[in-house]
Amino acid sequence: MIRFVKKALRALSFGSKRKPFKVISSGPHHSDFSEMIASETHNGVILMHEGVAIPSIIMRDKVRKSAVMAEDFILEGQQAFQAIQDILVQNNVRVGHDIEIFEFGVGCGRIARHFLRSQIGSFRGSDVDEQLTSWCSDVLSKKDARFSFFKNEYLPPLAVQESSIDILFSISVLTHMQKAAQDAWLREMSKPIKPGGHLLLSIIEDGEDQLPTGIQVRERIDEEYKREWLGVGDAPETYFSTANTSRYITDILKDNFQFVAGRSKAIRGRQSLLLFKKTI
Ligand SMILES: C[S@@+](CC[C@H](N)C(=O)[O-])C[C@H]1O[C@@H](n2cnc3c(N)ncnc32)[C@H](O)[C@@H]1O
Repeated sequence: MIRFVKKALRALSFGSKRKPFKVISSGPHHSDFSEMIASETHNGVILMHEGVAIPSIIMRDKVRKSAVMAEDFILEGQQAFQAIQDILVQNNVRVGHDIEIFEFGVGCGRIARHFLRSQIGSFRGSDVDEQLTSWCSDVLSKKDARFSFFKNEYLPPLAVQESSIDILFSISVLTHMQKAAQDAWLREMSKPIKPGGHLLLSIIEDGEDQLPTGIQVRERIDEEYKREWLGVGDAPETYFSTANTSRYITDILKDNFQFVAGRSKAIRGRQSLLLFKKTI
């Protein structure tokens, strides 16, 4: 058996005495594993999809724990993008070259990157995590001038002009907030949306019989990588996993928004999408 393996290796090295495999690295080589996974170049290899770089493992982990493979990052982002498109189309919400879009909690552009090939006016995004918004600016804004990103503080305000956005969406963000922060952001998000514009949110949805208070917040401890913004300013020390009823969200928004449609399990077969239209 050993003789067979040796022979096969010799054959692969074309009969020469050289080692059969060679590692080619065009960038800095990281001997430390944690340094390597934080690196955007993965030992000199830049992963790309449709001509756009893929962020480092640590950044991918920050937006989607336990699905950090580059393929999952692209696929799940694409599926969320498709779910957003579907609910908009099915409810006659037009997306075109004059439409201003905003993503709250944009992360490292897992969904935003799929808007690069869309007919839209502009795409703005914010997140509390500066590493992620900087990456989006460095990669997505450089690729396309319609895209811009900034860091927001943990609590409102959101530095966006009033009535300037047609569609504001936020995926898997309320799902990580305590009640006070979630309620504050729901009120704040209404301000930049134009009258007649739309708000699209994803929630971990529970029924009213399971969740009579309308909201349930659980502490969630992610061991792998630290989110630098936790414990800074108004941000709590730990991360959360939050479930809501759709009625709870609709009630908070009721002064400014009318509920248009909901799609249960639209995001990763887990989260519901809720679409609202701004009335005033
Ligand atoms: C699960 S990730 C989702 C990111 C992105 N929406 C996506 O689907 O890829 C949650 C994101 O919410 C952001 N986030 C959490 N609290 C926030 C806050 N108060 N303001 C803005 N972003 C926040 C986190 O930094 C993180 O990028």
